[in-house]
Amino acid sequence: MAANSVRKSWKLGRAELDTQWFDVSRDGMLLVKEGNYQYNIYDLVKKYGSPLEIVFPHILEEKIEQLFAAFKTAMRRAKYRGRISYHYPMKVNQNKEFIIPILSEGADLEVTSYNELWLLKKLWGQNHFNASIKVLCNGPKIPKYIDLITELRNMGLSIVPIIEDLGEIERLKGFKGDVGIRANIDIKVRSHWDKRFDQFGTSPEAILKLGRIKNLKILHYHLGSQIEDGKDIVLAAQKLTALYIKLRKTNPTLDTLDLGGGFAVPYSKTKLYPVDAIANSLVKTISKMTRKAGVPAPNLIVEWGRYAAAPAQISIFKIIHAKPVGGGSKKKWYVIDGSFMNDLLDTWAIHQKWHVVPVNRLNARRMIPVWLNGSSCDSDDKYTASGTYIRLPNIEDLEEGEQQYIAIFDTGAYQDALASHHCLLSSPAKIVAQDGDITLARRRETPEEIGKLFGW
Ligand SMILES: Cc1ncc(COP(=O)(O)O)c(C=O)c1O
Repeated sequence: MAANSVRKSWKLGRAELDTQWFDVSRDGMLLVKEGNYQYNIYDLVKKYGSPLEIVFPHILEEKIEQLFAAFKTAMRRAKYRGRISYHYPMKVNQNKEFIIPILSEGADLEVTSYNELWLLKKLWGQNHFNASIKVLCNGPKIPKYIDLITELRNMGLSIVPIIEDLGEIERLKGFKGDVGIRANIDIKVRSHWDKRFDQFGTSPEAILKLGRIKNLKILHYHLGSQIEDGKDIVLAAQKLTALYIKLRKTNPTLDTLDLGGGFAVPYSKTKLYPVDAIANSLVKTISKMTRKAGVPAPNLIVEWGRYAAAPAQISIFKIIHAKPVGGGSKKKWYVIDGSFMNDLLDTWAIHQKWHVVPVNRLNARRMIPVWLNGSSCDSDDKYTASGTYIRLPNIEDLEEGEQQYIAIFDTGAYQDALASHHCLLSSPAKIVAQDGDITLARRRETPEEIGKLFGW
């Protein structure tokens, strides 16, 4: 098969699907391109073994550049006076190999716990970023968290705690710096996380009743993640802007609107909404509403986490063997040398769809319908593409000594922090591919290291 049709059938090289960095070699191997560098994934997995996670900082950087470019163009077009900031939500992927390139792109940060902030303090102490970076603090403000926020503020860091509920106003009474407040806006969006009861934030009515809030700088909300329809993002921003306009009457220090996270990733490689169109609609909507109300255009913050982090990592597994699915099905189980329940937990938790592509033999003649079976003993440790199937090369056609590897795309968001150790399987090794070089970020765990986690 010609490289062009192989590329097309695996949906590689398409910007609207976040696969513009992926290609296929003439001999059917998966390639990742970084400018004029390219990485042959088969060679890497041969060298570093599997299961393997590969991080591509240039993908993170390009996604953030695209985001800034989209907002800056939209703001210029609308003659918008406010600024745009991108606060990367650390919870999405706390690995240092993600945080450093993100900071290098001019991103600010959002943290949700004392421990995340503690790590930032450490990074700051190592001179990895300067004090002009801004940090937003979500999550329950327990005393030691407030103490650390205060300590970092006193050391000159620009840090803003976000009041999650009314009780926190009391807890943050002694805090001298700027604060934000999180609204719980009653709006339905199409997303897995759109719950009837949202346990975060405070209702707009209750916020308005507070009158003057000391040093209020930011009005924040976070609707949910992987919002399926871009119109919902704009509609929600409209509601938040309406609240902003009312709140500014009693709070003239308020000058920033934080639209939270939620921008969706095309995991199943069908086209979603583009970043420039959403940025344009957001800026136009907010500009029009504030202009009409005679209120200065607010600075804008977005915290689109999975948008940048998901495409920047792929996970590689080896097919250990095949077995029939049974029950008269033509499908086969392909057993992988890793675990969905441990290392791609969203497969189990939210039935996440993934794009699965062979690492070698992308051009194989015979493809067969398969389900993927993880290596733990759990009957839920599987990936069936929501009960459909995946087509992969038939491993019966492998040459003597040849192995079949597969790559799962877009695994950079949330999966690492959720990972576990069912059946005490080792977490994958992790390498970073940057500027044509490979560095080992995390070795594959040894039985001894895992044993330690369990008191052995
Ligand atoms: C406050 C806040 N901001 C941003 C995010 C990131 O969301 P996403 O990765 O869907 O963009 C989250 C995710 O839970 C969040 O709670």
